[in-house]
Amino acid sequence: MRVVVNDKFNSNGEIFHTILGALREGVNVVDSKGIIIYSNKSSADYVKANMEEMVGQHITKYYQKAALLEVLETQRPVYDKKIIHDEGRVFIVNGIPLFINGIFSGGVATFRDITEIERLSKRLESLELELAQSKMHDVFETIIGNDGSLKDAVNKAKRSIASLGGPRHCVIVGETGTGKTMIAKAMYSFAERMGVIKPGSPFIEVNCAQFTNSDIAAMEVFGTEKGSFTGAHEKPGLVEGADGGILFLDEAHALGTHQTMLLKVIESGLVRRIGGRKEREVDILIITASSKNLKEEFIPELYQRLAQYLIELPPLSARSLEEKEKLLEFFVNLYQASAKSRYGINLKIIFTETAKNILLKAKYERNIRQFRDVINVAIDAAAPLVSNIGNDIKDIKVLVDVEHLHFKMFEEEYSPEIKQDNSGQASTLDELIKDLNFKGLGPRKIASELKKKGIHLEYYQIAYRLKKYKMI
Ligand SMILES: Nc1ncnc2c1ncn2[C@@H]1O[C@H](COP(=O)(O)OP(=O)(O)O)[C@@H](O)[C@H]1O
Ligand SMILES: [Mg+2]
Repeated sequence: MRVVVNDKFNSNGEIFHTILGALREGVNVVDSKGIIIYSNKSSADYVKANMEEMVGQHITKYYQKAALLEVLETQRPVYDKKIIHDEGRVFIVNGIPLFINGIFSGGVATFRDITEIERLSKRLESLELELAQSKMHDVFETIIGNDGSLKDAVNKAKRSIASLGGPRHCVIVGETGTGKTMIAKAMYSFAERMGVIKPGSPFIEVNCAQFTNSDIAAMEVFGTEKGSFTGAHEKPGLVEGADGGILFLDEAHALGTHQTMLLKVIESGLVRRIGGRKEREVDILIITASSKNLKEEFIPELYQRLAQYLIELPPLSARSLEEKEKLLEFFVNLYQASAKSRYGINLKIIFTETAKNILLKAKYERNIRQFRDVINVAIDAAAPLVSNIGNDIKDIKVLVDVEHLHFKMFEEEYSPEIKQDNSGQASTLDELIKDLNFKGLGPRKIASELKKKGIHLEYYQIAYRLKKYKMI
């Protein structure tokens, strides 16, 4: 296409200068060596330079990942190329080669900064996801095991919120990482959805064991009245803060003797701040939780009161293999979804059979939380870093193998078993050793591989095991 411009208007190319200068898009023109011949104002603004100083410099001085480099190399156009610059800005670029009288002479790039658009579209995606989740009628459906090992717990949780007689205070027991906090949050959403509490009512969570002692914990929970003792200020407690909503008291036994005050709130709906006289009415639902043996830790009256709504969560080791597999799948999906929303990358994560077996059979002292962490760290170890992924690559397969599994707890878990070495049963450790041996590693190499995972075995102990396997 030939553009004809009246000469009078086009003296010194001024008209083009004005047009290019007014464009919101950046424009760069380089010669065949990549030296900038022209940059418009938007381009200069993007890199915080001025147009004059850019001319004569190599394009990479300002745009390290310029699409023009590709144009110069291939002498072909590139369209809609997404470039993520090191400082995180995202550009959409078009680049075309420049031929003058049929001779390749350089290239022209036009581009837009879409950082903000990208950010907004990711935010939109996550909002859509949140919306889709919040539309689900039954929040408990998303909890893995709601139909299996947690069936009883979920039923009680629902009943304690939505009984016709009104909501009831309850207690959730379970080892650390078994899902106590998760259930409490699900109960809150359920209460909101059922109209038991008003939408947007407070959900206040506090771990009573985090305080130096039970007196300080009680001051936080119940508040203090001025002058009650030296240095005390007038301060409402979390009980008042949660008025109209739910107070989740984790490790509630750590309230010690102040549990009587908790009992009072539960029985009468009245709270008295520490050192105060006045009783205040509060309308709250209290969910207590504990990882301890409640019968020993709670004062008997409180125990009796709460035991009617005792929600018990089993440890991970008591869950079926099928549920563990579902949990694995759940955490893998979460990982994939996060790569997608963060970087727009479609990850496909696959575990080798051996890795999966070891993962599912291992023991996790910190239950699902630790299981989740081991899975995430294994995927991290198997996947490339985002900085090593080309801009155009959108689909990545990640194969997680035994060498990516890092269980801190291996040491604790296996040391007793190592001592009494005649159980005869194939353990996870045995499988790991066999796998490494199968890959051609000898006892010394296996010992050093295991060491990296925190398992300390002498090479002769490994040799002994290898011999034993062959005998079986
Ligand atoms: N049944 C489950 N389904 C899905 N995720 C779970 C389940 N139970 C626990 N989790 C996850 O495990 C982690 C630990 O759970 P959490 O509620 O914090 O445990 P606790 O409060 O008992 O220490 C959280 O990331 C939680 O989302
Ligand atoms: Mg918790």
